[in-house]
Amino acid sequence: MEEKTYLYPKWIRLWHWSNAIFFIVLIVTGLSMQYSSQDYQFIPFSQAVYWHNIAGILLIIDYIIFLTGNALTMNGKYYKVKRKGLIDRIKKQFYYYTIGIFKGEKAPFPVNEERKFNPLQKVAYVGAMYVLIPLVIVTGVALLFPEMIVHKVFGVSGTLLTSLLHIAVGFLLTLFLLIHVYFSTFGKRVSSNFKSMINGYHEGH
Ligand code: HEM
Repeated sequence: MEEKTYLYPKWIRLWHWSNAIFFIVLIVTGLSMQYSSQDYQFIPFSQAVYWHNIAGILLIIDYIIFLTGNALTMNGKYYKVKRKGLIDRIKKQFYYYTIGIFKGEKAPFPVNEERKFNPLQKVAYVGAMYVLIPLVIVTGVALLFPEMIVHKVFGVSGTLLTSLLHIAVGFLLTLFLLIHVYFSTFGKRVSSNFKSMINGYHEGH
C-alpha cells in the first residue's frame, strides 16, 4: 500500500515557491550586476538594480511569513536541532547518501510525522534559513540605505566590506540551492519530492 503523510501545509508551499521565484530573480539580477561592464550587460544595469531591489523586498516579506509560520505552527519543531549525537547522525546520513543508497540500503532516518527532515537536511535548512538568509537580508538592506553603514572599518570602506559579505553569502545560498534541488530528486521517484511540495503529501519509500 502506498504510504502518504501530509507534511507540507499550504502556507509552507506558498512561502516556498514564492521564495524560490524571488530567489531566482535575485540570483540572475545579482550575477548580471556583478559581471556587467561598459561593453556587456546581460540585463541593463539600472533594470537589474530595480528588479533586484523589488525581489529583495518581497523576499523579506516572505521571510517574515516563514518566521511567523514556524513560530505559530508545529512546523517550527522540525527546525530544532538536538546537539547530542548530531555528528554521528550526520555521518550516518552522509554514508547513506554516498554509499548506502547505491547499495539499495534503507534510509537511516525515514520521514514520518515526527521527523520531516533527515539530519543533513535539517542542518542545511537551519543554516540557510536562520543564518545565511538573515545575513543576506541585513547586508542587502544596509546596501539599500548605505548611509547606515559605518564609514571605515580599520581604514577599509564599510560599504565595500558589506557588499563583499553580501556577495559571499549570496554565493553560498546559490550553492545551497543547487545542492538542495539535486537532493530533492532522492525521493521515492525522481519527481516525488517536487510533487510533495505541490500537493503537500510526502510519498514514503
Ligand atoms: C527551483 C528552486 C527550488 C526547488 C525546485 C526546491 C525544491 C524543494 C522540494 C522538492 C522540497 C520538499 C522536499 C524537502 O523537504 O526537501 C523543498 C523544501 C524546502 N526548501 Fe526548497 N526548492 C527550491 C528553492 C528553495 C530555496 C531558494 C530555499 C531557501 C533558500 C528553499 C528552502 C527549502 C526549505 C527550508 C524546505 C523545507 C520546508 C519545510 O517543509 O519546512 N528551497 N524544496
